[in-house]
Amino acid sequence: MSEDPLMEAPTVRLGLLGYGTVARALVRLVATRREAFLRDFGVDLRFSRVASRGLRGRPEGWADGDGSGVRFTSELSEVVGAEDVDLVVELIGGVAPVRGLVRGALQRGKPVVTANKLLLAEHGDELSALATGKGVALGIEASVAGGIPILRALREGLSSDRIVSVSGILNGTSNFILSEMKRTARPFAEILREAQELGYAEADPKADVEGDDAACKLAILARLAFGIAVEPGQVAKAGIAGLLPVDFQLAERLSRVPRLIAVARRLSDGTPVLSVKPQLVSSSSPFAAVEGPSNAVEVICETGGPFLFRGAGAGGAATAVAVLSDILEIARRAGGRPLPPFGFERFEAVRPSGEVSQVMRERHYVRVSFPSNERARRGRSPAADLLRRFENAAIAVERIDSGEQAEIMAFVTVKPIDGDRLAATVAGEEPPASMSCVAMALTP
Ligand SMILES: NC(=O)c1ccc[n+]([C@@H]2O[C@H](COP(=O)([O-])OP(=O)(O)OC[C@H]3O[C@@H](n4cnc5c(N)ncnc54)[C@H](OP(=O)(O)O)[C@@H]3O)[C@@H](O)[C@H]2O)c1
Repeated sequence: MSEDPLMEAPTVRLGLLGYGTVARALVRLVATRREAFLRDFGVDLRFSRVASRGLRGRPEGWADGDGSGVRFTSELSEVVGAEDVDLVVELIGGVAPVRGLVRGALQRGKPVVTANKLLLAEHGDELSALATGKGVALGIEASVAGGIPILRALREGLSSDRIVSVSGILNGTSNFILSEMKRTARPFAEILREAQELGYAEADPKADVEGDDAACKLAILARLAFGIAVEPGQVAKAGIAGLLPVDFQLAERLSRVPRLIAVARRLSDGTPVLSVKPQLVSSSSPFAAVEGPSNAVEVICETGGPFLFRGAGAGGAATAVAVLSDILEIARRAGGRPLPPFGFERFEAVRPSGEVSQVMRERHYVRVSFPSNERARRGRSPAADLLRRFENAAIAVERIDSGEQAEIMAFVTVKPIDGDRLAATVAGEEPPASMSCVAMALTP
């Protein structure tokens, strides 16, 4: 053995796909920590190829030394096939053309690290089977809750327990908007614009505010927690765009806070419940204290827990730390049999989407708003119509608004109720344009 441990270090040559926010942060992090990894873990990380759209040579500000030994290209396939790439890091995002590239790398026996929740939520089965079949690692830590090491905790730390539920705040953009609506009492659209200016929200915010992003992450969490093959489309979803400042005032009177909560749990008969919906959480709950673009995940197990993981759910640096933790793990375990990416060797197929139980029986808050001319348009009181519908459906409610604004009525249900049944009762036969309604479960 050489006296100098650095001489012994296996060099891992990295091929990077994409050169955006997370990739740049990763390159900086590797440059800063390379010597420490060499000294502490005996691993020498080097970028050998970087491919991204429009990349023609060393990009300005390349942080990883002088880049003279690195080949920069716009040809993504060059990275996957290259002899001098030991491990592929995919930081492009989306499904095409990435799915084919990740498959190509795994088929060649090259480990892959990716932060791509959409790819994993939609094609996790296929990629996991391919990686496991080939005996290569597929690192996925950064795909859910950015810098929070929740996937490793589920796959390894909690693999010996039986997980009962995983729930959390998985979308930083919507949590920022909800926190600001509460803090400033300003409307959704105004705060969304501000979030876009601050870089917390995309130009097209649909995936964040309508729950699709959180549904993808929940599908990945459910695989790791329960070993079920669930697709994002099987998650019951509602977004936050319909919330009004008055919902926050009324919630405060109930000592509650609106949060977009993703929940995956099994009912006592084993049926999985998967939902992403705004809920009114108690002001004393850990989720109420999660402000701004942060994320939090609570895991409840049969024996241990509850465990709460909380931290930065996005951002280049935080996400790059998660990507790098996968790279290091793969480099350090080289030669050993990697764990399957989602922990389980095989997945139980859940029943088709329509039959996945979407029941959330809780007491509910419901707020209904009518246009001011609604009474004249109908020739009768819309409020009286609504109360009659509750009565006919045998849903007991307590009215909680002050009655000062004639167009707004808010209630809490006296007993737990299925949220879908409540929403259907409120909507009745009305043309949806004539009123807006928000229903939120009251959760601990
Ligand atoms: N940003 C975060 O905070 C965060 C957090 C957790 C997970 N992630 C995940 O990390 C991944 C990367 O996110 P990011 O924020 O770094 O994205 P990004 O800033 O948009 O960077 C994506 C990179 O890929 C390139 N690219 C996109 N489509 C391409 C194509 N068809 N061919 C070649 N190159 C292409 C882009 O080139 P152009 O510059 O020309 O578009 C850019 O260099 C995504 O899967 C994302 O979901 C991100």
